[in-house]
Amino acid sequence: MTDANALNRRFVVLISGQGSNLQQIVTEAQAGQWPLEVVRVISNRADAPGLAWAQAQGLPTAVVCHHDYDSRQDFDDALAKVIEKDRPDYVLLAGFMRILTAGFVAQFKSRLINIHPSLLPAFTGLNTHARALEAGVGWHGCTVHFVTESLDHGPIIAQAALAVDRSASVQTLAERVLRLEHMIYPRVVQWLAQGRVRLDESNQVHIQGVAQPHIWSQL
Ligand code: GRF
Repeated sequence: MTDANALNRRFVVLISGQGSNLQQIVTEAQAGQWPLEVVRVISNRADAPGLAWAQAQGLPTAVVCHHDYDSRQDFDDALAKVIEKDRPDYVLLAGFMRILTAGFVAQFKSRLINIHPSLLPAFTGLNTHARALEAGVGWHGCTVHFVTESLDHGPIIAQAALAVDRSASVQTLAERVLRLEHMIYPRVVQWLAQGRVRLDESNQVHIQGVAQPHIWSQL
């Protein structure tokens, strides 16, 4: 391991599907030449297109398939074992479509990051874009946050917002929000890689050199 690598923070990325956020993060790090050490991409689905992409990039991968386990706890225990082997500083959930048990979250507390396609705490859970249109909100977007025991409610690191065109379809809105995700997640991962993000004892997020809460907006 070179000295530089010794300093690099180690990231495990969990995906379930396309892995577009994974791809954006890795591509931006390479283009921006900032140090990013993805030590493994893990999927709960063997057919996840993001896995093939990661393998083509030469990134280590693994599959821990939830169908192979009798319970959510057994799956989470197996997943945690695979993750810990890589000694990650951070575990990024990037389109990982599993609800994690409290024990798993506690084991990776303050190392576990997620991107959610809404402006939390609005629209936790699924189908966020349809629900945002149904609710007639003026603003919608995405949130990068630390994961805690309560689903989609962890300390917010950054948010990106856009003005909603109420005539838009769910698909159009989803595409616009995904583009915001591709802008915000790489920024946050770069801050994490630089060791600039801290979660204090009262669950407040501090990012060295960045005003909090970090927001972007797009009219
Ligand atoms: C994205 O909408 C993300 O917000 C959600 O999963 C979806 C797919 O993400 N968490 P990706 O393309 O697999 O990164």
